[in-house]
Amino acid sequence: MTEDATLGRLPAGELWWKAGIVYQIYPRSFQDTDGDGVGDLKGVTARLDYLAWLGVDALWLSPVCRSPMADYGYDVSDYCDIDPLFGTLADFDALVAEAHRRRLRVIMDFVPNHTSQDHPWFRESRTSRDNPKRDWYIWRDPAPDGGPPNNWISNFGGPAWTLDPATGQYYYHAFLREQPDLNWRNPAVRAAMLDVLRFWLDRGVDGFRVDVIWHLMKDEAFRDNPVNPDYVPGDPEINRLVQLHSADQPEVMEVIAAMRAVLEEYDARVLIGEIYLPLERLVAYYGVDLSGAHLPFNFQLIQTPWHAVAVADLVAEYEAALPPGGWPNWVLGNHDQPRIAARVGDAQARVAAVLLLTLRGTPTLYYGDEIGLGRVPIPPERVRDPWEHNEPGRGRDPERTPMQWTPGPRAGFSTVEPWLPLDPQAETRNVEVLRDDPASILTLHRRLIALRREHPALSIGAYRAVSVAGDVLVYERLHGDEIVRVALNFGHGSCLVDVPPEAAWEVLLSSAGGRRGEGPQDGRFALAGDEALVLIRRPPGAAG
Ligand code: GLC
Repeated sequence: MTEDATLGRLPAGELWWKAGIVYQIYPRSFQDTDGDGVGDLKGVTARLDYLAWLGVDALWLSPVCRSPMADYGYDVSDYCDIDPLFGTLADFDALVAEAHRRRLRVIMDFVPNHTSQDHPWFRESRTSRDNPKRDWYIWRDPAPDGGPPNNWISNFGGPAWTLDPATGQYYYHAFLREQPDLNWRNPAVRAAMLDVLRFWLDRGVDGFRVDVIWHLMKDEAFRDNPVNPDYVPGDPEINRLVQLHSADQPEVMEVIAAMRAVLEEYDARVLIGEIYLPLERLVAYYGVDLSGAHLPFNFQLIQTPWHAVAVADLVAEYEAALPPGGWPNWVLGNHDQPRIAARVGDAQARVAAVLLLTLRGTPTLYYGDEIGLGRVPIPPERVRDPWEHNEPGRGRDPERTPMQWTPGPRAGFSTVEPWLPLDPQAETRNVEVLRDDPASILTLHRRLIALRREHPALSIGAYRAVSVAGDVLVYERLHGDEIVRVALNFGHGSCLVDVPPEAAWEVLLSSAGGRRGEGPQDGRFALAGDEALVLIRRPPGAAG
């Protein structure tokens, strides 16, 4: 491995995307520099020193390409340009250069399943049934009753087909009607989209997070999806049907392998796939002989109940399901999911941070989670997410609010009212206030990240389950002579944690702060409620 491939800060010989930590930025909400209340690329560049200080290795930018923003950038109208709201291609190049100067990798969001309805390809496609671009999208005749061609439902609720009166056919959209699905069975579409990857790889990006990658191929016959017998009224409408024919088709593996092959034309790039599927299907996305995604995003911690036993079972199942050589990864939140602090509360959010940053596998940290952002209330008149309009209560605005940098007006995010409201606690919950507080959740994240870098056992070491009893989960990470033991208390009561008596153990980190260097008493460590401890076994012969 060359120095460049690891950018010099990670264990020698390891690929950056295995040993490192990814930080997700929702660009609209990171830093506004041009005073329009929306974050931009110059803002991200201005905050790179913060990311370097925090210690992460890569940043993933949610979409910044040209877009009418019906789904806030997940509706692309030009894959090879930056939306003016975010800046210019020159700003993007500057961001990549400045990131690389700080040894930070840049991962782009690639949205290949659908374009915007304003993409020139779709504009052409809809002009006539025999337009050369017609087959770039999915057009079907109406059903005999004039209704949609099949029963598929949009992920945002409502039918997944929209009738285009000009040509009398329906087009398919797995999401908004403003987001028509591309036809990935068409070789010309494939070629054009693979060229988009090359466009950005040539500009120096280090990889892609591929949006809804498991959606790319649909059943060739467009059969109806079966009714979901387990549907619970009140769940999102999409769950009324089992997505048997509309996603996760075997042919998608070939498409992903083609994307992967493009990345292999370059050095040390990463392919991350967004996949919401049960574990046994998720791991299929590593591909035959690992020809698929390097990291099929593992969202299981978002979906698993927050209990020691459930998490222990999940880790065991995931570790067991990984294909040989498949590298794991973990995620606590993203721009589509309620934030971790909102789901488990402030106290357990600290335990969650220890879990995320000590499990085996690449962690992705969602911006703002490191300062403990929770569910920010959004008054009805400020709702922005179209999903909230379609299905009230499902909206994702509460986890997309601006990053909070400083006390004072607009939390240092902008000079004007931001596009989404700030957390009412912004005055105290911000980087400037928390970075100097040894007990803050920000300090906890920074220490955990530093520990992961200092101890290869934590970044690249093996995983060994130790015990799960009541609310307490214990596991170890091992590398060479190094053994790091992690004890997580998912409950509020205190307890004692045993360590093997034949070696000397000491505390590397407590999620509550302090305790570093503390040894066991009578072979045990006290664990307070909502506390997580990271312990290290001193090598035999080393002083206590
Ligand atoms: C992915 C994105 C989400 C978007 C959807 C449609 O799930 O993460 O934000 O709305 O795809 O592109």
